[in-house]
Amino acid sequence: MINENPIRPFYVMEIMARAQALEAQGRSVCHLEIGEPGDRPAQSVLDAVHTSLERPMGYTAAKGLPALRERLSHYYAQQHGVEVNAERIVVTMGSSSGFILTFLAAFAPGQRVAVTRPGYPAYLNILTSLNIGTVEIPVSPANGWKLTAADIEAAYKRSPFEGLLVASPANPTGAVLDRDELGAIIVCCDRLGVRFISDEIYHGLNYVGGDISALEFSQGHVIVNSFSKYYCMTGWRIGWLVLPEDLIRRAEMMAQSLFISASSIAQHAALAALDERDEYDLKRDRYAQNRLVLANGLKELGFGLADPSDGAFYAYADASAFTNDTMEFCVRMLDETGVAATPGLDFDRTDGHKYVRFSYAGTLESIETALNRMRPFLRR
Ligand SMILES: Cc1ncc(COP(=O)(O)O)c(C=O)c1O
Repeated sequence: MINENPIRPFYVMEIMARAQALEAQGRSVCHLEIGEPGDRPAQSVLDAVHTSLERPMGYTAAKGLPALRERLSHYYAQQHGVEVNAERIVVTMGSSSGFILTFLAAFAPGQRVAVTRPGYPAYLNILTSLNIGTVEIPVSPANGWKLTAADIEAAYKRSPFEGLLVASPANPTGAVLDRDELGAIIVCCDRLGVRFISDEIYHGLNYVGGDISALEFSQGHVIVNSFSKYYCMTGWRIGWLVLPEDLIRRAEMMAQSLFISASSIAQHAALAALDERDEYDLKRDRYAQNRLVLANGLKELGFGLADPSDGAFYAYADASAFTNDTMEFCVRMLDETGVAATPGLDFDRTDGHKYVRFSYAGTLESIETALNRMRPFLRR
């Protein structure tokens, strides 16, 4: 047995199911648990779907529609000033299948991949199910939840690993690495011979500056991205990878056998979405307002919140003024107040019992209602 970490449930899904059951009984619920925007995609995305329905909707090439891969290549030139050959781009079913392809193409069973703790829980579950070992590197609120090159060096000395997977902006903390910080991490990985995987799914949702892609430093790393969050397309299951030369063919062969291709309809929709960044930036501005209201409200209620939480759409709040068991706390808060939030155990199996993740991807009204409902609950 390579992994000591068993596969765990996604507690957020269980909170969500409980919230939906309450709603079915007629209760009102403020959904601050789910990491997805409530908004629809841009109208042109829906129009593209209608138009594509006129044509036969067969499989596409395993790496995706050539037009979408070319458009993504152009996206990197536009947004990041880097040239990416469309041959290196593989369209996937959300970033989730991108992780599977990356891990299978890049690592052998028994090798190890490091991730941050707290971090997105599926990383550990996918790696474990592929029999790839995991190393968790703790990050702390004292450093704005940011991973540093020094943390990586220290963890590598304790137990070496072949890969490092980092998300910036991060889930659940919202931490964003600036150019120097990301650059230092990449230099450190290159020096140690560690393959760097950059999860850029929250790009576009940065409230303090521009997005920095790992591609701006070198072409040797793996980029994972998705249309789920910024483009409001979680249920469409569409994303992409940018791969270094040595992984392209293996990932393509894996994609042929595991998935055949991503959904054709979703690929046509994604192509249209890339031209609608002005509209999506307006949605981002709305999250920016939500972010401040939620952060101020949580601090006023007595939660601990590290600054800065500069991206994504989450506040990862220290609830130890109220409880040492946020699993029980979240269930009770939902039952008694109708406020749904995610227990930190989803993201951190060691210290998560002290934390709660609140999502601000919903409406300002639901955030304000949630804060009002929590006030008397927390005083009890
Ligand atoms: C950091 C991070 N990466 C990847 C994903 C997976 O998203 P999808 O498969 O919808 O692209 C999520 C979803 O919440 C996430 O938070």
